[in-house]
Amino acid sequence: MTRIKNRNDGILESWNDGFKESSGFLTWMSTKITVTPMNCRNSQYIYQGIESCPSLEMNANPLGWWQPAQNQPATGDQALSDAINRVTHPLFLINHNGKMVVSREGTLTIGNKKPSGSDVLPLIGYAPAMHPKDLGDPQFKKTHNLRYAYVVGAMANGITSVDMVEETGRNGMIGFFGAAGLLPDEIEAAVDLLQGRMGSRSFGINLIHSPTDPELEAATVDLYIRRGIKLISASAYLDLTLPLVYYRVNGIHRDNKGNVNCPGKVVAKVSRVEVARKFLSPPPEKFLKLLVDKNLISAEQAVLAAVIPMADDLTAEADSGGHTDNRPALTLLPTMLALRDEIAAKYDYVNPVRIGLAGGIATPDSTAAAFAMGAAFVLTGSINQACVEAGTSDTVRRMLAEAEQADVTMAPSADMFELGVKVQVLKRGTMFALRAAKLYELYSRYDSYAEIPASQREILQRDIFRCSFQEEWEQTRNFFAQRDPKQIEIAENKPKHMMALVFRSYLGRSSTWANSGDQSRKIDYQIWCGPSMGAFNQWAKGTFLEKRENRKTVTLAMNLMFGAAVDTRVNWLRYQGVALPRKAGKFYPLELSKILGLLKEA
Ligand SMILES: Cc1cc2nc3c(=O)[nH]c(=O)nc-3n(C[C@H](O)[C@H](O)[C@H](O)COP(=O)(O)O)c2cc1C
Repeated sequence: MTRIKNRNDGILESWNDGFKESSGFLTWMSTKITVTPMNCRNSQYIYQGIESCPSLEMNANPLGWWQPAQNQPATGDQALSDAINRVTHPLFLINHNGKMVVSREGTLTIGNKKPSGSDVLPLIGYAPAMHPKDLGDPQFKKTHNLRYAYVVGAMANGITSVDMVEETGRNGMIGFFGAAGLLPDEIEAAVDLLQGRMGSRSFGINLIHSPTDPELEAATVDLYIRRGIKLISASAYLDLTLPLVYYRVNGIHRDNKGNVNCPGKVVAKVSRVEVARKFLSPPPEKFLKLLVDKNLISAEQAVLAAVIPMADDLTAEADSGGHTDNRPALTLLPTMLALRDEIAAKYDYVNPVRIGLAGGIATPDSTAAAFAMGAAFVLTGSINQACVEAGTSDTVRRMLAEAEQADVTMAPSADMFELGVKVQVLKRGTMFALRAAKLYELYSRYDSYAEIPASQREILQRDIFRCSFQEEWEQTRNFFAQRDPKQIEIAENKPKHMMALVFRSYLGRSSTWANSGDQSRKIDYQIWCGPSMGAFNQWAKGTFLEKRENRKTVTLAMNLMFGAAVDTRVNWLRYQGVALPRKAGKFYPLELSKILGLLKEA
């Protein structure tokens, strides 16, 4: 029996006396190992900083042994931080005469059999190299031709602008153009630009569910198919629709390797399990039959469609800006992963759906956590709206840069107002959420505008419409005359519907006022935003990223991905029982050029 005593008098006992060496690594031969609670390695290494750290015990159960190659190890907090940030190199923490020192090179022997040599030192921590491109699902990156498993989510009305999508695509990530809220000819103008600028680089476009305007959804799908759009983000769906299924199965075929292939890739975004189930399952038979009946697909194609899921990828959307069920990411992602496994096993898919995470991703820590939990990719929204490329106003960018974690709230949505659906918005500096909630309350309680008590109507006309109801209806009427004329017919026969359209018109225009920076309507700005904005601002405080003019989509993305690689390495060291000095274990925002410089060292 071997007894190894540590500094705290904990005892590690091993029966069978020793180890066996194989391929340069030592493996335990013992059949029974007893570790007393006192013997936690963690308790031996608690440092405040390299200069003040307590002495280490030279033989106190090291991970293994380290021998220098050419250079001696470096000392000090700065050297430690630098080594951690050089993520493309492995990192060795060494006990050098009782101090923690660091090296990025040398020879390692794992296990407690000390090699011969006077320069051999105990190894107390080891982190392999980790490039940010290693994070996430390799198949996700391969399918979409990406370097990084990082997605810039769609933000309506072109807030995720052509420029933002372009920047993202040029830097090995993917962005989804914010097509929601736009008319087909506006979307087509963006398609023209993107197809002209992107060449073979990847990009996607949002397809948003429009329950109040199914023709718009169908026209958008026709546009995407006609213009050869190969990737969409399908969002806000409560149930699948015929146009969405048509996009998915249009052109489905068996390739020359015998695999079933869909030209149209779908990344679904869902917050709810019952909706996820529909995207993880094959397209519903009833829709396939309808498409065959309409001669949009052949009977053979309908058969092929039965073996593929509705989506290639699915973003589990936790508490986020915009449409959200406010689910915590920590509970949502494991549920979605388990559901994916269940459904993939049921249908025996060749390619199970990859699951990414959105909602709350705003810092290196949350990015690292998402990947650690098994996310195939991460998707951000709120933080990008504060970036210079976002299709919004400078006033909005400023308001977002000042937001804190709790400065958000839920408010009725314009697109699904009558259904009581809500979106998460910024509450600091705007009264939109309060006013929209009031409108929904009145809509729920009364059957027509005329039924609303006169005192309340007066407030609405003075503060919200800033004109009479009749004038507001005229404006609304003009809007729907272009957009969806049958709504006018219904409204003129049904006063409750007229009230809904007028209220929705305010809700819709409140986004336009924000995007265009209309100062006269600042108090009414509707700005979709999640708690992630506050988390980002807190992390960026006191750094160059505090200034909104420095917030560029790719700079933020690379800080999150690079920072996640750093955090992951720091966590590996922690799991080995190393307590790093406070500053050395923390990643602070870096300029993009600095990050790229560090990555080029590979
Ligand atoms: C201003 C804004 C507009 C958005 N518009 C859309 C949209 O039109 N379609 C969509 O699928 N998601 C939309 N989203 C959601 C984002 O794409 C993304 O899923 C979400 O913001 C991620 O969570 P986060 O806000 O915590 O980063 C929007 C989010 C924001 C902040």
